[in-house]
Amino acid sequence: MINNQSSPSILILVLLLLPITNSFLLQNNPPPTFLKNNEQSSKLQATSGAPLECRAVGIGSAAPRTVVTNVDLETVVETSDEWIRTRTGISQRRVLVHPIAPHPVHGFEEGEDWMADEKNEGLKILGIKAAKQALEMSNVDPEDIDFVICATSSQEDLFGDSTSIAAALGCKNSFAFDLTAACSGFLFGIVTAGQYLDRGGKASGVSHALVVGADALSRFVDWDDRNSCILFGDAAGAMVLSSSHDNDEDSDKYGILGYSMHSNGLGSKDLQCSMTPTVRPVKTRGDGVELSTASYDFMTMNGKEVYKFATREVPRVLNEALDAANIDVEQVDWLLLHQANIRIMEVVAQRLGIPMDKVITNLSDYGNTSAASIPLALDEAVREGKVKKGDIIACAGFGAGLSWGAAILRWG
Ligand code: UT7
Repeated sequence: MINNQSSPSILILVLLLLPITNSFLLQNNPPPTFLKNNEQSSKLQATSGAPLECRAVGIGSAAPRTVVTNVDLETVVETSDEWIRTRTGISQRRVLVHPIAPHPVHGFEEGEDWMADEKNEGLKILGIKAAKQALEMSNVDPEDIDFVICATSSQEDLFGDSTSIAAALGCKNSFAFDLTAACSGFLFGIVTAGQYLDRGGKASGVSHALVVGADALSRFVDWDDRNSCILFGDAAGAMVLSSSHDNDEDSDKYGILGYSMHSNGLGSKDLQCSMTPTVRPVKTRGDGVELSTASYDFMTMNGKEVYKFATREVPRVLNEALDAANIDVEQVDWLLLHQANIRIMEVVAQRLGIPMDKVITNLSDYGNTSAASIPLALDEAVREGKVKKGDIIACAGFGAGLSWGAAILRWG
């Protein structure tokens, strides 16, 4: 116990020791430094690890019927097919043209073939179609799916699309949530699923997960802005991942062999779609209050900055994930990047020393489909027989947030 008389001497001692203690603390726990701009890698907001024992066992995708070619866009904005193809690698994109369809379960009559009706084509329906294909390939019964993630930034219900997608698929025993990380969403989604499935799902009780990546950014682009409207298309892709079992001898050699994820909100100004509030007076007692209702404005993008960010950070994050997986770049069978711009893919492949014939791309036909782009391209590559069981795929997503991440997958 400290008595009153000894207090001044203790105080002096504490004051004398303070600089020493402080410098010790600073050396061992440096204070958080806030990044000044997005030129630097965001070290503080990062995670990486390896491996997540699970298996990617099913893949599927769906895109709207309506095709908009570059030539079509020549009458919309001042552009040309030649400019778009040479600067981006895109020839056409698919877009949703119908108003938002009713709820996929209780919005229709029993027995009605609502999926076949073109008028019902909406984002949720694309997600359901993609997921059905992935479930069929995986041979996992929908009732055995333990959880569903819908990675999207353009959900049709503000409170999330994942629960309606799960209900329409008959995933009766799953919990579901949406995940928003823009064009990195699918990649962040499979890493999240991998965390639940790791080590036979022993910690979580989860055996099978469904990850859907779905976006309809055509609904949010400014069709008068030639800088951005030429880039985006709509689609959905889906993957089923299952935990490995105790008797699965290769369990540590499949699934997510390594991953790394980053974000840096200081760069969010370079690619955003913000809310625009409108004042709404509400007559409460007395003077009343002015509340606001809100809807989303058009997307804005600083293309040059996003291009610089992607070509700088994507090779780095892929190297981090390869290191975490203890895999050499020569062992990579396929490089699968978020499909944003063929020039970004060329730069990243070149920086990693990966030849272009190992790069999976279908950007030319679909444009940038945001969270759907990785599973959409992988689905095509698997169904064409290009990607085979046991192949190592280095995947990377990047985009608004800013967010970026990589995962090294062994397929099958
Ligand atoms: O999921 C992530 C989403 N975003 C991205 O990945 C975007 C990354 N950035 C890019 O892909 C490229 O920066 C763009 C494709 C957006 C633009 O390509 P760029 O080579 O960086 O073109 P730029 O912005 O430097 O523009 C060059 C010229 C400009 O004209 P001036 O100032 O040189 O006279 C633009 O006004 O091209 C003009 N331009 C166009 N011309 C014809 C910009 N858009 C168009 C267009 N058609 N659509």
